[in-house]
Amino acid sequence: MSSRPIRPRRSALYVPAANAKAVAKAETLDCDTIVFDLEDAVAPDAKADARERLRAHFRTHPESRKERIIRINALATDYGTEDLLAARGCIPDAILIPKVDVPQHVGEVAEALAQTDAPDTLRLWAMMETPKSLLNAAAIAQAGETTGSRFDCMVVGTNDLAKDLRMPGVDRAALRPHLAQLVLAARAYGLDIIDGVFNAFRDEVGFASECAEGVAMGFDGKTVIHPAQICRANSAFGVSPAREAAAADIVAAFELPENRAAGVIALDGRMVERLHLDEARRTLALAALQRGD
Ligand code: COA
Ligand code: MG
Repeated sequence: MSSRPIRPRRSALYVPAANAKAVAKAETLDCDTIVFDLEDAVAPDAKADARERLRAHFRTHPESRKERIIRINALATDYGTEDLLAARGCIPDAILIPKVDVPQHVGEVAEALAQTDAPDTLRLWAMMETPKSLLNAAAIAQAGETTGSRFDCMVVGTNDLAKDLRMPGVDRAALRPHLAQLVLAARAYGLDIIDGVFNAFRDEVGFASECAEGVAMGFDGKTVIHPAQICRANSAFGVSPAREAAAADIVAAFELPENRAAGVIALDGRMVERLHLDEARRTLALAALQRGD
């Protein structure tokens, strides 16, 4: 339903922009996406230095094979406007707006970017992490239709969500209905959506299980906080060789002369419809991008 280009977003690594070592290291890691953070991972006294660090980083690394995102503070805060100007100057792939409650929070950043003649390639992403973002999820997702084509992706903030809902911890079972609402809203309007972080970054088993749940729910990838989580997120959300081979079989089957006009065929004892063909083509495109073809 969406004409947005396909981007692999299996792993999106948060990098505190105040941490010089982490900023430099991020470019060398295997994550699909880097989210340079000016918001919650940066203490108030370090905000100005963090902006300068990002400016210098993008000056010295104007190109990257990764998708690069800058998370700013909300425009309503003391830091928002300066963050937005700094991020605009860096020209990342997208600016991530935190604590989006209503569609206007996306609209006002889109408007500010339009006023500075920002290139269309500079996209907008939204953090979905407040009770209002849950209540307004469909209207926020729909904002993509009124903010030009900039709005691209939602990112779930499970720590903020659990805190605002007064959950005693980040309990996935309790969060599941809310997460499902967010995936639904994103899919209804053709946006990508990335799952929240897993705080216990040394717990490999717990992380793997949460990734598997995110895959099953339809998320495109996982936000990660530590390099040790990247590989597992890539493999959980990536296209496996078996899935790629199955997709290739479906495409090949519909290309047979006797099946070209068919709506539904049988393949290896299963019913395969044209909707599966669309999905198979998308899977093959994603697999090629993951390999860097
Ligand atoms: N991005 C890039 N590099 C990172 C990193 C990150 N998010 N987290 C850790 N590293 C690097 C460290 O700099 C270190 O590099 P080195 O081997 O070259 O010295 C290496 O990975 C190992 O780090 P480690 O010592 O295991 O972790 P730590 O104790 O230094 O940091 C955290 C732990 C959680 C503080 C850190 O991972 C972090 O800040 N994560 C991001 C937090 C964040 O952005 N939160 C906001 C969104 S929820
Ligand atoms: Mg948050």
